[in-house]
Amino acid sequence: MTTTATIGKYSVVREIAQGGFGKTLLAENAEGKRVVLKQFNPQQHNIGSQALRLFDQECDRLKEVGHHEQIPSFIEYFEEGEDRFIVQEYILGQTLKDELKESGTYSEAQILSLLKAILPVIGFIHHKQVIHRDIKPENIIRRSDGKLFLVDFGASKSMSDSVLAKTGTMIGSALYTAPEQIGGKATYASDLYSLGLTCIHLITNMSPIELYDIGEDQWIWQDFCTNKASEGLAKILNKMMARGINYRHSSAAEVLLAISAFEKNRKEVEEEQQAAGIAKSETRLPSRFKRNTIVILVVTAFATSGIAIWRVNNWRTNNSGDSETPPAVERLVEQPNKSSGLRFPVLDAIRDEIASDETIPKEIVTSLDYMLIPMKLIIVLIIISGALGLLLKFRVRN
Ligand SMILES: Nc1ncnc2c1ncn2[C@@H]1O[C@H](COP(=O)(O)OP(=O)(O)O)[C@@H](O)[C@H]1O
Ligand SMILES: [Mg+2]
Repeated sequence: MTTTATIGKYSVVREIAQGGFGKTLLAENAEGKRVVLKQFNPQQHNIGSQALRLFDQECDRLKEVGHHEQIPSFIEYFEEGEDRFIVQEYILGQTLKDELKESGTYSEAQILSLLKAILPVIGFIHHKQVIHRDIKPENIIRRSDGKLFLVDFGASKSMSDSVLAKTGTMIGSALYTAPEQIGGKATYASDLYSLGLTCIHLITNMSPIELYDIGEDQWIWQDFCTNKASEGLAKILNKMMARGINYRHSSAAEVLLAISAFEKNRKEVEEEQQAAGIAKSETRLPSRFKRNTIVILVVTAFATSGIAIWRVNNWRTNNSGDSETPPAVERLVEQPNKSSGLRFPVLDAIRDEIASDETIPKEIVTSLDYMLIPMKLIIVLIIISGALGLLLKFRVRN
């Protein structure tokens, strides 16, 4: 690579990254517009003419996939000395790898919105017969306005395969790579596998290697979720990461369908729970009624017993020193309280006061006695249910 700060018609601002086949540079054109230069040095890697042809093919593909609003647009391709460069639109933002470092593990909602934003892009490139082959957090950029971009359609991907075919070794990190791709047979479903692994890495902040139980042959990422994931999401991610291609979703669109079915189902459950919540609060209305009734009952009881006490006192002062039994007592003996088995001080005082009044006919007192029985029972029931309610509340709180 040339050491000058100018490459072709571009002036280099800084190096962004150093990849397997060359550097990724931030540069400016003559008008000061920022672009990204991806360098490729075939000589340095001794890959040969076959690989170079693949690189050219990849450039053609990139021109095509670059026409998506979430893929950096392809600007041009040029050669300088031994190096080849791809110039593409610069995305000002942060990769998901950096975002994870800065903001911590993703929530289920963040994972779902990532999937919903990236799957259509993957579907688009697959439609153009391009397999990305390297989906991972470093290759997804969130632009400063929040829009997600898929980067690194690099020539290196075709190169990787050609080198792989030649040497049987994998170039770069295989952390996110599907088993069949490691075996040299990448398919569209390999990208879904890598996206699934990207998600479990973001939701746990752990390396995908640690999230797989070799003995049990299953993903154990759910055990390491800081933000607990629902079974619905787990089912979708685990299917994306199935080791056998036949057990994965057949396309990005199919994953999107599974997500929308899951979200629809979850919304329905939430609505049902909400409706049940409303019904519950409606059933609480009578409890307010019950409280008001008790207040009225207590106030009335106090008022009437007050009157009763006042009347008895009045009688006492009027008949002080008189040993004669008051007529009211005679009447009480003659007319025993029918509900006296369960005595309520206030209620019975009122009843006795009424019964002691000679002007009130006996029949009325008798019917009052019959009315007292259910009244007393209701009061006992209210007291028992109140006590049970308090007990339950106390137990739940503890
Ligand atoms: N168009 C772009 N705009 C902004 N940053 C980019 C762009 N393309 C790549 N990058 C950054 O450069 C890094 C390396 O580029 P990438 O295309 O992934 O090359 P490599 O094959 O070396 O991984 C990416 O992880 C990303 O941080
Ligand atoms: Mg990359």
